[in-house]
Amino acid sequence: MLPWRFLHPRMWAFNARNVSHFLIDTVRGAPPRPLRARDYVARHATQGDAASVLATLDRYATEERWLMSVGPEKGPLMSEMIGGLPDGARVLELGAYCGYSAIMICQRLAPPGTLVSVELSPANAEAARDNIAVAGFAERVELRIGSSSDEIAKLEGPFDLVFLDHWKDLYKTDLQLLEKRGLLRPGSVVVADNTGDLFSPEAYLSYVRTCGRYDSESREAHIEYSQLPDAVEISVYRGPDAT
Ligand SMILES: C[S@@+](CC[C@H](N)C(=O)[O-])C[C@H]1O[C@@H](n2cnc3c(N)ncnc32)[C@H](O)[C@@H]1O
Repeated sequence: MLPWRFLHPRMWAFNARNVSHFLIDTVRGAPPRPLRARDYVARHATQGDAASVLATLDRYATEERWLMSVGPEKGPLMSEMIGGLPDGARVLELGAYCGYSAIMICQRLAPPGTLVSVELSPANAEAARDNIAVAGFAERVELRIGSSSDEIAKLEGPFDLVFLDHWKDLYKTDLQLLEKRGLLRPGSVVVADNTGDLFSPEAYLSYVRTCGRYDSESREAHIEYSQLPDAVEISVYRGPDAT
């Protein structure tokens, strides 16, 4: 990702708020943000009510501290794809953060469908695990702590839908790893968040749009909890030989 794109004047208000919050939290020695969001959910959300957990995370992100969850605008673009999956579908998510998208996926994924979510940061995984439990989905989610590439190397496939929402520079290589390991089947849906220009998605978009193995389309949206432009790329895998 090129930092200079985030220095564009349209980013100034967004950056000013985040930088001031970052400085305040650093001076105060505050715990990691996802753990504070987790504590906020524990205080304010209703146990067993997924919608309440999502609404509480949305409130935290707008009233307290910005969260890089997929959010209430792009989240439904991702989760509407879940509705078209077969019974017992298997979903893979790369990047759990506070568990927001995992909860949204489980809301649409009818049992016995399951979600595997991979998260690099132990603190973020702890927040995700606790929030998913409050939402009532602890039994439906296998949360794996580790790097995407390490976990992809160990996973058994195939997955019916993959949600890419970890570090943007890894989207292309991790997707190629998923293909190489046979973790996609013809018809698998790959949803990639943050494919708007601000995130420098050129390498990933060029790959899914031109390699011949995907039917790919972009949905325009905004960066979560802001009016800044963003997009979600939805790509349907044709299969390994469709080039
Ligand atoms: C944008 S957040 C994910 C938001 C989440 N999908 C949601 O909508 O609620 C990105 C997350 O990816 C994690 N991450 C970054 N690189 C990773 C990697 N290589 N493997 C697994 N997780 C990674 C970060 O620690 C962070 O929690």
